[in-house]
Amino acid sequence: MTISETALTEIKDLLGPKGYITDPAAKALFMAEWRGRSVGSSPLVALPRSTEEVSALVKICAKHKIGIVPQGGNTGLVEGGIPDDSNSQLLLSLSKMDKLVEIDPLDYSMTIESGMPLYKAQEHARDHNRLFPLSLASEGTCTVGGNIATNAGGIHVMKYGNMRDLVLGLEVVLANGEIWNGLQSLRKDNAGLDLRNIFVGSEGALGIVTRATVKLFPRPRAVETIFVGFEDLDKGLRLLSKLREECGTSLTAFEIIPKAGLELVLKNIPDTRQVLDNIYQWHAVIECWHDTSLNDGIESGPLAQAIADGFEADLIVDAAVATSDSQKQDFWKLRENLSEAQREEGTGIKHDISVSCAKLPKFVAEAEKRVLAIHPGTRILPYGHAGDGNLHYDVIRPLDMDKDSFFALKQQMNDAIHDLIADMGGSIAAEHGIGALKADEMERLKPAIDISLMRTLKHSLDPHNIMNPNRVIKA
Ligand code: FAD
Ligand code: LAC
Ligand code: ZN
Repeated sequence: MTISETALTEIKDLLGPKGYITDPAAKALFMAEWRGRSVGSSPLVALPRSTEEVSALVKICAKHKIGIVPQGGNTGLVEGGIPDDSNSQLLLSLSKMDKLVEIDPLDYSMTIESGMPLYKAQEHARDHNRLFPLSLASEGTCTVGGNIATNAGGIHVMKYGNMRDLVLGLEVVLANGEIWNGLQSLRKDNAGLDLRNIFVGSEGALGIVTRATVKLFPRPRAVETIFVGFEDLDKGLRLLSKLREECGTSLTAFEIIPKAGLELVLKNIPDTRQVLDNIYQWHAVIECWHDTSLNDGIESGPLAQAIADGFEADLIVDAAVATSDSQKQDFWKLRENLSEAQREEGTGIKHDISVSCAKLPKFVAEAEKRVLAIHPGTRILPYGHAGDGNLHYDVIRPLDMDKDSFFALKQQMNDAIHDLIADMGGSIAAEHGIGALKADEMERLKPAIDISLMRTLKHSLDPHNIMNPNRVIKA
């Protein structure tokens, strides 16, 4: 059903001329997902400036039964933050709600509006000699509200957890327009059910996050960054276990890069360079953030020592220690551009899986067999957050195959990977969420009782199905 002129007039009157966009060219920026794979349409992009405006807007939408798609930075990878192509859903951008509400360094907490870009939240914390530790390659654009809605992970999960672990309190506009004020900075609160955690990771399907109070941390006193090469994933995982033993809670990142991935980054991303003597089957960027200074300089820290032990134990074949900030950036550039580097080759068929860490080598070996059985010559890129048991498992067309023929294999490839993950007790949506892209797949693979509980929650909080309809859980 299209949005009536009456409803559009009510929305325009509420927001005023600067509070919405109807110009097609200006709207287009909000309609396409990051990779340009999918494009939606909406008669109007709403740009509310306050929680009260969001609340009034939702009340209008509830009255007219208009579906609302909240959007932060539009960097999501599961088609959750763009409308469908029916032109009947309203796009609600949080981009004008990007202010710092309060920062309390003594309490190690900060309250912000949800449309604040992640890098800004990191900067505000830094300005007060504090750390907001969430870090993703998209941090220049994604918003804290989007991070909350997707329960984002990123490269520091080993030490600081996912976004869920960093949220203390939330303010949410509910499907009837009511404002739930759950903003608080308590570290302990067992008074009843945990309402906050219903909304974290709900991808806009239960309410619109308008403000959040997040945890801050002391800044690290020293950071060790080491790039290693190894020939066998099993040995890589044994190295990870050793690092956990020797470095304890200072171990912050263990991110892996396969040979084919490193080659693509070096080929397609400007200003990148090889940091080891050779390209190996596997590489890892490993980082430790220390709470105390390292007296003897960075090369002799606990991570460097543990890596030396890894050599002795024949777990790695090469390593480079970053001795300057620019070297650290060089190392991270090779990891953070793995997604971007694939664009030049034509986007691949992507998966975002997790299994228990110990099962990663078995998953990679078995998945490779299944993918190559579907199409020999497919390039395979398992990369990313191995320290969390989470890999981005991207398969890319062989160079001599056209894009359409390759994408015709998408369903088969998805089934092969996801069935394997289900057999191994893993997740088909480790950190990017479900969105529109995986809603059917989640129903296929999750136990019926899980789906029914999610549906019960959805129906009770959003009885008219106006909050991001058909994303995550279908009505
Ligand atoms: P959007 O894309 O705008 O929205 C995402 C979802 O959240 C949608 O369903 C939307 O409706 C909902 N939403 C947004 N804001 C709100 C709100 N205020 N209230 C309610 N619902 C809302 N993700 C990771 O977890 N780890 C990574 O390491 C990572 N790396 C990435 C690297 C690149 C290069 C890119 C492009 C993406 C990466 N992502 C990663 C995915 C993405 O950046 C995250 O999912 C991020 O949290 C999305 O934030 P956003 O503001 O862009 O949200
Ligand atoms: C990354 C994104 C794809 O980790 O999540 O690079
Ligand atoms: Zn990731």
